[in-house]
Amino acid sequence: MKFSTAIATLSMMSCLSGATIMARTTPIVPTDLSKDLEYSPYANRSPAAIRVLETSRSSPHVRTVVVVEDGRVVVSYVRDDVDPNEPYDVWSVTKGVTSLLMGILLESGAIESVDETLGRIFADETTWEGIEDAEYRKQNITIRELLTMTSGLAWDWSRFPLDPDWFEGVCSSERGNDQLRRWLSGPEIGTKGKFDYLAMSDILSHVIVKRTGMTPRDFIAKRVLPHLGIKADEIGWGAHCASPANRSPSTDEPESAFHNLRLTPVQMAKFGMLFLQEGAAGSDVVVVSPAWIREMLTPSIVIEDPLFYNITGLRSEVSYGYLWYKDLAGIGTDNWCAFGMGGQYICIDRDLGRVLILQRDGCDGLDPDDLLNAMRVTLTDFVALDPNLSFKIQMPDDGEL
Ligand SMILES: *[C@@H]1O[C@H](CO)[C@@H](O)[C@H](O)[C@H]1NC(C)=O
Ligand SMILES: *[C@@H]1O[C@H](CO)[C@@H](O)[C@H](O)[C@H]1NC(C)=O
Ligand SMILES: *[C@@H]1O[C@H](CO)[C@@H](O)[C@H](O)[C@H]1NC(C)=O
Repeated sequence: MKFSTAIATLSMMSCLSGATIMARTTPIVPTDLSKDLEYSPYANRSPAAIRVLETSRSSPHVRTVVVVEDGRVVVSYVRDDVDPNEPYDVWSVTKGVTSLLMGILLESGAIESVDETLGRIFADETTWEGIEDAEYRKQNITIRELLTMTSGLAWDWSRFPLDPDWFEGVCSSERGNDQLRRWLSGPEIGTKGKFDYLAMSDILSHVIVKRTGMTPRDFIAKRVLPHLGIKADEIGWGAHCASPANRSPSTDEPESAFHNLRLTPVQMAKFGMLFLQEGAAGSDVVVVSPAWIREMLTPSIVIEDPLFYNITGLRSEVSYGYLWYKDLAGIGTDNWCAFGMGGQYICIDRDLGRVLILQRDGCDGLDPDDLLNAMRVTLTDFVALDPNLSFKIQMPDDGEL
């Protein structure tokens, strides 16, 4: 007892002093994601877990946190009033999942390359009739540019947060009844090649429909969810205009590619694991190839938009892959996040073998000032990605090692 306590104290001291920064040296044996995630024997009991739990509790808007390291859950936090089995709005984390779906489209041959233009995909001329700058939109916008926010489609941030006119405007009859045309006709064209965060756009939803005949939800239910042990009706995914109460998404009005997905924290952790395992959902189940995950998680552009930094409160320079952010918190490890409004995250750290899931109270019912606050990235939320902390030992006063 004395001996093991001493070891624990020693390893804790060394871990806190930074001597145990662990770079991944052994290859990851993929966890079978169709099964429940296992818990580490030190789950919620390691010094690192205690830090994460304390930070989470002291942050009133944090609903749930899950940390997975080496395939095992090492932290699980659920606020008292939250039902963790109820799928919760992950906002723009949806984009990070859509990015996965684009890789599957590519590898199944449904798209030829990410450089296919919108004009080629939506080849029916009547779709484009009367749309302003139609030639630009047809010839100059590719899937890759939508994935990297460099298409030239310019979100009007002066109307942020969530200009209700625009939000509803997409759905108004002024833009006609054709959902695809509505999304293809806006927003305005700005500067091609410049990072311009398109908060909402369902163009990629329509790419999925066009090339597979399935809505994004049917597509993910077929190609991804079974491998993650998730039943199709256990997630939520709505269309932009159809309120979930009265209309269901359809091929005319598919689920939103850039928002509207609802997931439980454990489902988010399964997705995080899938990305960390480079597209493998088990030792012989490949959902998408490692090549796609690597391409997705390669910096393609440095975000230079001052407004982005102002709104998110980030100080360090951030790079963007395919709808994923590199090292939002400026930690310096190879970590990537899908990040959604209000502070929803799926983060993976390829150096540390960790997944971090965080859900915060979203924006429903918040006034505009709160909404702006809800966009801010809270750096303390990333404590679980601190390479100096260890989840592999137990607090010394917590019994035998
Ligand atoms: C980890 O420890 C090193 C060395 O003590 C320090 O330079 C670094 O800032 C620490 N990293 C974090 C994320 O705290
Ligand atoms: C495509 O973009 C380039 C560069 O911005 C521009 O010169 C060209 O006119 C655009 N093409 C169309 C059809 O708008
Ligand atoms: C940045 O945000 C502050 C409020 O947080 C605001 O006063 C200021 O005008 C913003 N700056 C820019 C360039 O938008």
